[in-house]
Amino acid sequence: MTKTAINDYGCSVVGIEDGFDGLVRNQMRNLEYFDVSGILTMGGTILGSSNRADPFAFAEENGQAEIIKTDRSDDAVVSFHNAELDALVCIGGDGTMSIADRLMDKGIGIIGVPKTIDNDIFGTDVTFGFDTAVQIVSEAIDRLHTTAQSHHRVMVLETMGRYAGWLALCGGIAAGGDIILIPEIPYDLESVIQFVKKRSRRGKRFSIIVVAEGVKLPTGDYEIKHRDESSHDPIRLGGIGVWLARQIESICGISSRATILGHLQRGGTPTAYDRVLATRFGCEAMKLAAQASFGVMVGLVGQQIKTTPI
Ligand code: F6P
Repeated sequence: MTKTAINDYGCSVVGIEDGFDGLVRNQMRNLEYFDVSGILTMGGTILGSSNRADPFAFAEENGQAEIIKTDRSDDAVVSFHNAELDALVCIGGDGTMSIADRLMDKGIGIIGVPKTIDNDIFGTDVTFGFDTAVQIVSEAIDRLHTTAQSHHRVMVLETMGRYAGWLALCGGIAAGGDIILIPEIPYDLESVIQFVKKRSRRGKRFSIIVVAEGVKLPTGDYEIKHRDESSHDPIRLGGIGVWLARQIESICGISSRATILGHLQRGGTPTAYDRVLATRFGCEAMKLAAQASFGVMVGLVGQQIKTTPI
C-alpha cells in the first residue's frame, strides 16, 4: 500500500506502531519507499502489532499490578489529527474492525484490510495470513503422519482459529486428516471413537485427528488455556486436543498423543498467495483512500476485490 501511495498518488504515509496502541500513545513514524522495500517476503510486520489495544477500553497497569481500562479514544483522535492524516488504514481481524467501526463514529476516515489466520471476517472469502497458516498446518500433519504410522498411534493436532474452523478444515483436508472437528459442526465423541476403532479393524493402525481450538467439550464449554484480561476478548482457547487424545486412549486403548500447534501457525515466510492477496488489498485500500471512500473494508469475493461497509 505504501508503494502505491507514494508512486501512484504522491501521498505521504505514516506508520503507526503496534496498532491502536501507537495511535493512543501517538507513536508513529513516516514511511518512505525504501522503508517498505523488500518486506513483502517477510512475515510479521515492521511496525509491530497488538491484539489487545482497544482505545475505548485501553488497558494499563495502575502501578499495583492491576489492569485498569479507560476510554482513551479521544487521545487516538487527537493523534490522528495532530499527524494531519486524512485516512486511517486498519489492518487486522474482527477485533480491529469493531474498533475501527467505533472510531469512524468519531469522525476518522477509515478503510479496513482483513488480515488474520482465522479467516473469520465477514465480507471477504479470504483474509491474508490464512493461506500461510494452512500451509503450516498441512506440513505439521504430514510430519505427524510419519510418526503416527510408525508407532501405531492416534495423533491429535489442535489448530488455532478461535471460534472458526477454517484452519483445521483446510489444513486437515490438504494433508488428509482422517477426522476433522470444527466448531461450526457439532460432533459426537462416540462417532469419533467408532471411526478410530473401525480404521483399526481395517488394518489402519493409526489415525490423524485435526481439531480446531474452538471445538467445545461435550458439556458445551470451551477448553480455555488462559485469560488475558487486558485484551478485547480475554479468552485464549486451548486444550481440546489434549482432552480428546485422553478420551480416545482410555476408551479405545490405542496410544494417543496431542500436539497443539500454537503460535507456529503465525510465523515464518508468507506464501505466494498471501503476498499477492496482501498486495491487491493494499493497492485497493490506497485507491479508496485517494477517493475518500471511507467506512469500508476491502475483501476478496470470488476472484474480485470488493468492498463491504465495515
Ligand atoms: O486471532 C488469531 C489468533 O492466533 C487465534 O487463532 C488464537 O486463538 C489467538 O489469536 C491467540 O492469541 P494470542 O496471540 O494473544 O495468544
